[in-house]
This record gives sequence, structure tokens and C-alpha cells, in this order.
Amino acid sequence: MLSDAVPALRCPVCQGPLSLGGAPPFSLGCVAGHSFDAAKQGYFNLLTGKGTVFEADTAEMVAARNDFLGAGHYAPLAEAIAELAAPVLSAPGSLVLDSGTGTGHYLRTVLDRTPAAAIGIDISKFALRRAARLNPGAINLVWDIWRPLPIADRTVDAIMVVFAPRNPQEFARVVRPGGRVIVVTPRNGHLGEIAERTGMLGIEPGKDERLAESMQPFFTSADVVKLDVDLTLAARDLADVAFMGPAGHHLERSALLASTAGESSVHATAKFTLSVFTAPENGS
Ligand SMILES: C[S@@+](CC[C@H](N)C(=O)[O-])C[C@H]1O[C@@H](n2cnc3c(N)ncnc32)[C@H](O)[C@@H]1O
Ligand SMILES: [Zn+2]
Repeated sequence: MLSDAVPALRCPVCQGPLSLGGAPPFSLGCVAGHSFDAAKQGYFNLLTGKGTVFEADTAEMVAARNDFLGAGHYAPLAEAIAELAAPVLSAPGSLVLDSGTGTGHYLRTVLDRTPAAAIGIDISKFALRRAARLNPGAINLVWDIWRPLPIADRTVDAIMVVFAPRNPQEFARVVRPGGRVIVVTPRNGHLGEIAERTGMLGIEPGKDERLAESMQPFFTSADVVKLDVDLTLAARDLADVAFMGPAGHHLERSALLASTAGESSVHATAKFTLSVFTAPENGS
């Protein structure tokens, strides 16, 4: 339920507790009178003042991501994330935070497999419109992950970060002792068979090492799972997969569709790394 995650929320202006008020789609407010109305789709915009200068995914890019993920191509990844999160989300009252939730696709699977309450954060309103529809029981917040999170200390049992930015210091503050952070990154050779023709950007070398380094001051590395998923992609899927990533900012959808139209399906391999980190048991 929407209200389940509310006790963990903090006002971004005064850090006081937030509570849910009004009629659907509700508003969030603190006792000092700071108030944030939900958009009609049900997400809350907590960003006040100037945001980070950020090139948000466009509505078209979000639609491509929604179509591609909705077709189930990455279902094994969603299942793997849910399996790694489940051990810390088995108790009713547990809480999961999805950092850069996008359309909420992976969070949906976690919520289907566990009784957890959820907070989804993303800086893109276009993404959150869809996330709020897909996960109406989660609190979906427009927020910048680089800012202090509007979440109380030691309230979150699992944090998931799927191809999205992470803020290790803030994660360490909000996670409960013994809680988990699950980070999914693409591995070298991810969709290598189709990368060039769809104009996808390459993976920077050393990405996994940098992830481990950034988390190491706060968390213990508990597990690294390498997951390969064989894909059979039709022309439309090719256009979607190219358009939904960062390259979508530089590509023309109509040109992409034209260049893939009429092609028979192609084979490609998605290569993911799932890195699991744990917070110290004593919380120090
Ligand atoms: C590649 S998408 C991944 C979305 C989702 N996790 C998925 O895998 O479908 C990255 C997401 O991170 C979000 N994002 C990027 N920078 C952000 C920031 N500073 N704060 C919050 N979200 C951010 C984008 O809007 C986008 O939805
Ligand atoms: Zn306040």
C-alpha cells in the first residue's frame, strides 16, 4: 500500500516526518507546512529550487524502454534481482528503495515476489508517470539521487540500482544494519552483436572496479553474479533497445526504424553483472 513506505519519508526542506493527506491522488506534508501534491498519475515531485543540470530521458525514450521491457526480454534479470533482494525483504514491513526506478519494471517483479513496501526515485517525470501506474502501491518520487535522500536513517532493507546512478554515502545512511544494495551494470560485450548497427554507446572499461571502489568505504562486497541472457530480437525490438539507452538522446527513432525495417530477427546476448553489497550489522 502507498502508506506503507510513508513512515520512512522525510521532508526535503526541514527533514521532519512526512505524512499522507487529502484525497487521492493525495499529498505529502510535514508539520512545518511543507506540502507536495501528487501528480494525477500518482507520483510526488519533491524537488524544490534548482535541480541538477540533467538531460532527462525523453517521453519517446521512456516509451521504448517500456515496450522493450514489457515484452519480457530481460525477465531473467528481473527474477535474478528479486531473488537477491528477497532474503532481506521477507518480513512484512520491510522496505525496498529503487534508485533510478525508470518505468518501475524491475521493482514490479520484486514487489510481486516479496511483501515489501517500496520507494522509487527518478529524476524523470516521464519515467515516473509509468512507474506510478505500474507500481501504484509504491511511493514514486521525483528526486535527484545526488542530493541527500528524503528518507530517514536506517529504514531501508534493500536498495536496487539497475543501470542507474548511485549515491553510496546516502545509501549507507538510509540502509538498515545488515541491509543489501544490489547494483546491476552491463558487462563488456553486452549486446555486442548489435551494438554497432544500433549506434549504442560502448561500456567504459573498469566500470565494475569503480563500482566496488565507490561502495567499499561503506559496504562489504557479498556476491557478484554474472548473468547472460540470449535474446531473439525483431526489427522493432532492435529500435527499442537502441532508443531506450543513453544513445537515445542522439538517435532519430524514424531513421532507426527505417534502418531495421524488413529485417528478420537477430540474435544477441545481454550481459549483466549483479553486484551485492551488505551494510555492517552494527550499522556503524
Ligand atoms: C538507464 S535508466 C534505468 C531505469 C530502470 N532502472 C531500468 O533499468 O529500467 C536510468 C534512470 O536513471 C534516472 N536518473 C538519471 N540520473 C538521475 C539522478 N541524478 N537522480 C535520479 N534519477 C536519475 C533516469 O531518469 C533513468 O530513468
Ligand atoms: Zn518540512
